[in-house]
Amino acid sequence: MRTSSVTTTEERCCAAGEQPGSPDSGIQLQVLPTAEAVAEQAALALLDACLARPRRPLGLATGRTMVPIYAAFTAMVQGGSPRTLETLRNHWRSFNLDEYVGLGPEDPGSFAADMRASLGQPLGLSTAQLLLPDGRAADPDAEAQRYGAALREAGGVGLQVLGLGLNGHVGFNEPPCAADRRCRCVSLRASTRQANAAAFGGDPSRVPERAITLGLAEILEAERILLVVTGAAKAPVLRRLLQSSPSADLPASWLHRHPRVRLLADAAAMAA
Ligand code: GLP
Repeated sequence: MRTSSVTTTEERCCAAGEQPGSPDSGIQLQVLPTAEAVAEQAALALLDACLARPRRPLGLATGRTMVPIYAAFTAMVQGGSPRTLETLRNHWRSFNLDEYVGLGPEDPGSFAADMRASLGQPLGLSTAQLLLPDGRAADPDAEAQRYGAALREAGGVGLQVLGLGLNGHVGFNEPPCAADRRCRCVSLRASTRQANAAAFGGDPSRVPERAITLGLAEILEAERILLVVTGAAKAPVLRRLLQSSPSADLPASWLHRHPRVRLLADAAAMAA
């Protein structure tokens, strides 16, 4: 694990030697005191990626970890120069990681609805700019193929933003998951449906059983990855990730093989 060049009293950056059992890894870990501080840094990284040249599509995630990040990002953009907002609107193209099978953008539990509310409406981005798998497609397997091909045709992702599931999933790549799996239709674990029940009135049985997700292969093909982990509930899985060698049992552990992963964590997530 590389050491970040940024070190202040408020930030703690860890080298491989500080993590017992840590494999040789390209993950650069940066620990910040609060989830708000993490959101601010993640929003800056996102803005940086939006303005970088050559322009490449963004890879975006949904979930609770992303809520303060997108809020910080939209506040940053809205408080910035009109020119930046115009550039963003003119050039934005993002590919989300996943969508529930059976849900369309009109369903409040869908990730498409999340994206519209958190980025589309506040920034004036169209649905054609905020791409997700079509959860309402009649043939979800064919839709997964189409979505994976669309991402390939767009040249792959520049910056991929990721959250971390409690069982180590990224996107909806549930364990066990090999590093070469591509975009496909998957069945969700009961624990994942439980973890995501809040968006469905707290009832896990209302969380769809299947989803379309980009695979570890597409994720690892991104030029850069920003993994964000916040909150005490994630501390055990983050500890496992930091200590584990790449393995199908912990899908996020394949990220150790990527040369450019920045991991932003808050103190609570590091407190295991
Ligand atoms: C979800 C999503 C992921 C998300 C992760 C963590 O199930 N498929 O894209 O990043 O799990 O979610 P949360 O941030 O809500 O903990």
